[in-house]
Amino acid sequence: MALYTATVYSKINGAQPLFATRSRTNKRAAPVIKMTQLSAGGSRHVASFEEGQLERPRWTGETPLSRLVAALISFKPLYSLMKLGARQVLISTAERTNIPWREMTKEILESDVYKEMESIQNPSLVYPDYYLKPFHAYDEGNLSWLAAAEAEAATMSMVRRAIPNAASLDEANQTVRGNWLQAIEQHHLQYSGNSTIEDILDVGCSVGVSTRFLSDKFPSAKVTGLDLSPYFLAVAQYKEKQNAPRNNQIRWIHANGEATGLPSKSFHLVSLAYVLHECPARAIVGLVKEAFRLLQPGGTIALTDNSPKSKILQELSPVLFTLMKSTEPFLDEYYLLDLEKTVKEAGFENVQINLTDPRHRTVTGTVPLPP
Ligand SMILES: C[S@@+](CC[C@H](N)C(=O)[O-])C[C@H]1O[C@@H](n2cnc3c(N)ncnc32)[C@H](O)[C@@H]1O
Repeated sequence: MALYTATVYSKINGAQPLFATRSRTNKRAAPVIKMTQLSAGGSRHVASFEEGQLERPRWTGETPLSRLVAALISFKPLYSLMKLGARQVLISTAERTNIPWREMTKEILESDVYKEMESIQNPSLVYPDYYLKPFHAYDEGNLSWLAAAEAEAATMSMVRRAIPNAASLDEANQTVRGNWLQAIEQHHLQYSGNSTIEDILDVGCSVGVSTRFLSDKFPSAKVTGLDLSPYFLAVAQYKEKQNAPRNNQIRWIHANGEATGLPSKSFHLVSLAYVLHECPARAIVGLVKEAFRLLQPGGTIALTDNSPKSKILQELSPVLFTLMKSTEPFLDEYYLLDLEKTVKEAGFENVQINLTDPRHRTVTGTVPLPP
């Protein structure tokens, strides 16, 4: 039986829950999880994280609808149009919510970011096949400066889409990033046998947005961001240099999260935020197994990504899900994989699934402590 908890916190760091209603159900009727949320000005409004009726959206997996979409996408001339359409939707949605996509991109592309490449890139890294395919409407996937320059605006846009009624990006982040961080902290407190989080690995850190949130939340921890794209890491390092120095400087590593080469049992927390839906099932299994190897006994894994049960995702319009699928080649594999089972089979215990915002779940688990 899945247990979903919806909780909203007043601030991202160190905040206390304001109000939470717990829903424990697998029944067919769609459970509505209501909560009270503080808006930026301090007033309360009610939002809800609602589960749909299905195990996963109809537009994913092996359904006739999913096959029809796949057939449309595989028709080359149509695919080229969809790719353009998907890009336009992303940029215009971002700019409608005051995310200055084009300015942010221009600023990075006209900066000294290129100088970071030499110190970041591991020239002997062998990329997995899936990573060399076109992706997110970029022909070179994540291996390009344009993809790297647009990544932060795309991340902001994802957060705004998750909480469309939020008055600002900060307010949306309070829910999306705040609840994710709180789920991690609570899980670790509850199951880690009093170990504090001192070493954190953020696998699939992209341009470092999740890495910075983790470092802000756990300021006494050493934080490492790891990614397959040296372009994204170059932006992460460049942006971090623009910020005020931290007590614990973030370390950036260019590696494959499935085989990091880092020492076993060297982290208290391994986080993968919005990485898994971009990977084929075999890579998801590899990433989870490597996280298990890297964690100390009592260490916590945290996987946050699209929730197959999200009502909003289940009810996405055909135009939106078709455009999305045209640029996300592994969505079907992600939605079909039983992530809870994958995490348990890797050896984790105390596996919890929290619907941390209307679109996303956070799955947490613990490496067993010695008896
Ligand atoms: C959507 S981005 C992550 C966003 C970021 N974690 C955040 O929350 O802001 C997904 C990232 O996963 C990375 N990635 C995909 N497969 C990977 C792998 N096997 N090892 C390391 N990084 C990987 C991609 O390069 C990309 O930067």
